Amino acid sequence: MKPTVLVVDDKPNFLSLLVKVLGSDAEVVTARGVREALRALQTHPPAAVVCDLKMPDGDGMDVLRALRASKSAAPFILMTAYGTVPTAVQAMREGAWDYVTKPFDPDVLRGLVLRALRESAVLQNGSAASTAGDSVEARSAESFGQLVGASAPMQSLYHMIERMAPTDATVLVTGETGTGKELVARELHSRSGRAGETMVAVNCGAIPPSLIESELFGYVRGAFTGATHDRAGLFEEAHRSTLFLDEIGELRFPLQARLTRVLEERAVRRVGDARERRVDVRLIAATHRDLPAMVHDGTFRQDLWYRLNVCVIQLPPLRERREDIPVLAHRFLAVQSARGPRGFTPDAITALMAHSWPGNVRELRSVIERAAILEESDLITPSSLPPEVRGRSLSRGGRAVAEMTYREAVDTARDEGVRRYLEAVLQSHKGNVTAAAAQAGVERESFHRLLRRHGLRAETWREEGGEAHPTRVSHVDDRDDEDPSD
Ligand SMILES: Nc1ncnc2c1ncn2[C@@H]1O[C@H](COP(=O)(O)OP(=O)(O)OP(=O)(O)O)[C@@H](O)[C@H]1O
Ligand SMILES: [Mg+2]
Repeated sequence: MKPTVLVVDDKPNFLSLLVKVLGSDAEVVTARGVREALRALQTHPPAAVVCDLKMPDGDGMDVLRALRASKSAAPFILMTAYGTVPTAVQAMREGAWDYVTKPFDPDVLRGLVLRALRESAVLQNGSAASTAGDSVEARSAESFGQLVGASAPMQSLYHMIERMAPTDATVLVTGETGTGKELVARELHSRSGRAGETMVAVNCGAIPPSLIESELFGYVRGAFTGATHDRAGLFEEAHRSTLFLDEIGELRFPLQARLTRVLEERAVRRVGDARERRVDVRLIAATHRDLPAMVHDGTFRQDLWYRLNVCVIQLPPLRERREDIPVLAHRFLAVQSARGPRGFTPDAITALMAHSWPGNVRELRSVIERAAILEESDLITPSSLPPEVRGRSLSRGGRAVAEMTYREAVDTARDEGVRRYLEAVLQSHKGNVTAAAAQAGVERESFHRLLRRHGLRAETWREEGGEAHPTRVSHVDDRDDEDPSD
């Protein structure tokens, strides 16, 4: 089934050209103005919209707003005449996916529409996947179940998971913190013959060493004080299913020995019990530690290492697959509330890609979640990113204009202009926000928003002992606190 694309323009000739250009890839619905477009949104919910900016009966931006009001995330591509680029930039801020300047090459538009359809399909599969739980079969170039990423290391990861999942082999997942080890474990389980049973997960680092033995293997009544009844351990609980031993590197030496025996014999003995119970458990283990080094130091048993070292999945740190950062960022943004920002400015993406991400995907996720809350406009800007992330991109002054894309240059110039203006107004009103806002002719609230967005703080211009401090605060990380001014 071909996706529906709504094209909106007041010129019939132009519409028929678009039908010709897009007709082989999409079901093209045409509208000869804003009014017809609004009706078409109801009758033919589109997968993408291509819309003219200025039409006799209204503005293309109204179509965009109606599209968003109808809760549709369909990409919106604006067609503008030469000279209206600032409006187009504004449209991007309000959630347009991209724009083309007339006149344009039909193939360029076609490419743009196809890419928009492809990317939004991936996003939609993604949000469906995150609500549908474990039983997700969907696989695209950009994701694999719950895992997101299109880079070469991720592709080979997907391939390995596919091959290992259906076997009963023990798998060891290694990687730095936040690289997705637990996600991989869940993916292995949900693609195995054991998927019908719940995976049992235990974090060996989180359970006190004195308790972990009885947790894993269970106990019988009277085995120790407080053991008032028999209890099965997690191994027995995971019978016919998968046991995920997270942070296996934290297991103490004696327990490593017991675990090795369980893996050899496929049977467990509860603490205080003489009887062995057979268990059918598939083991997946994970660690951020360097187990071979631990074996070398004598802190990890070699025999256990041999048992674990059969199938090893090594997750690359995020900084080694930076091309996954934009797709991850968009995905995390998409699963946030529907009201927040819908995308990123180019310099926000640049900043995200430049950061080294010591906390890997988990860090990226929380940065995006935080930015989505802080950001007041429709696109996440560097000012809503934490200082350590936006740090490098902020030296935009040091970046040659010639290295920028046209759009980046327009954004940068605009931001710079607005910032200088705000600084001047604050300066002349000595940091009094009410007066500055009145002078600027905007609501006080909006003025505060502008200040936050540009990393400015009014009190910087307040007189302190008769001296003004017109320094710009570039590390504003308390923006979710109460406003300091007034
Ligand atoms: N490839 C990925 N695609 C989507 N989300 C991911 C990916 N990798 C990690 N995440 C997300 O990042 C967070 C951390 O993932 P996870 O808990 O699996 O990491 P971990 O390697 O087990 O970390 P730790 O060593 O700290 O326990 C989770 O919110 C997870 O959903
Ligand atoms: Mg983990």
